[in-house]
Amino acid sequence: MGAQEKFPGVSIVNGRLAVNANHSFFGEIVEKGYRFWDPNRSKLGAALMKGLKELPIKFGSSVLYLGAAHGFTTSFISDIVGSAGIIYAVEFSERCFKELLPIAEKLKNVVPIKGDARMPETYSWIEKMDVVYCDIADPQQTEVAIRNCSAFLKPKGYLMIAIKTQSIDVTAQPATVAQAEADKLRKAGFDVLEVLNLEPFEEKHYFIVARSRA
Ligand SMILES: C[S@@+](CC[C@H](N)C(=O)[O-])C[C@H]1O[C@@H](n2cnc3c(N)ncnc32)[C@H](O)[C@@H]1O
Repeated sequence: MGAQEKFPGVSIVNGRLAVNANHSFFGEIVEKGYRFWDPNRSKLGAALMKGLKELPIKFGSSVLYLGAAHGFTTSFISDIVGSAGIIYAVEFSERCFKELLPIAEKLKNVVPIKGDARMPETYSWIEKMDVVYCDIADPQQTEVAIRNCSAFLKPKGYLMIAIKTQSIDVTAQPATVAQAEADKLRKAGFDVLEVLNLEPFEEKHYFIVARSRA
């Protein structure tokens, strides 16, 4: 197998993205210790395939994940952060949360929270996080992510945010929408490290990695 490690625990194996793990929850292929990660089903997977330069999620990281859905991307982050890491996975849809629960039970380092990311005060019991990851496809999602960072991000911590430009402004150019969201982050005290266009994996989606200046 031609394997090249891109980040600790994340490799490209014969041209395909993979993490080091032996389990499978969504029908993904597992071979020789590699668990293959379909970038068409995961914006973080797509960002990695599009050449993400820095992956703030590492072994031992704590991650607040907003919009976990049924846990697809969460499960790969769980493999990366490993037994020393933790993910608080927030999801407000009853149906998705029901599907997330059995996955979280098996993964051990995922704490599912049935909650609304727009109301971080409702899960104020969680500790400070290394990374806030936001994928809620909400028109106000950058504002929601910033509020969650104010409440839970450690000093100099990272924000990773998937931008669905269509849910913010259908009339503007996707690149313009993404830059406007990046500007909001700069104004809120973040350095914007990367703005990636996720095509062809996700149309009209961008991915931003930012770091808190405070
Ligand atoms: C695009 S999907 C997330 C996909 C997931 N991140 C993945 O890669 O596996 C967006 C999810 O965010 C959830 N969501 C939207 N607004 C939310 C909110 N305010 N609080 C919590 N979850 C929310 C939706 O129910 C949906 O499951």
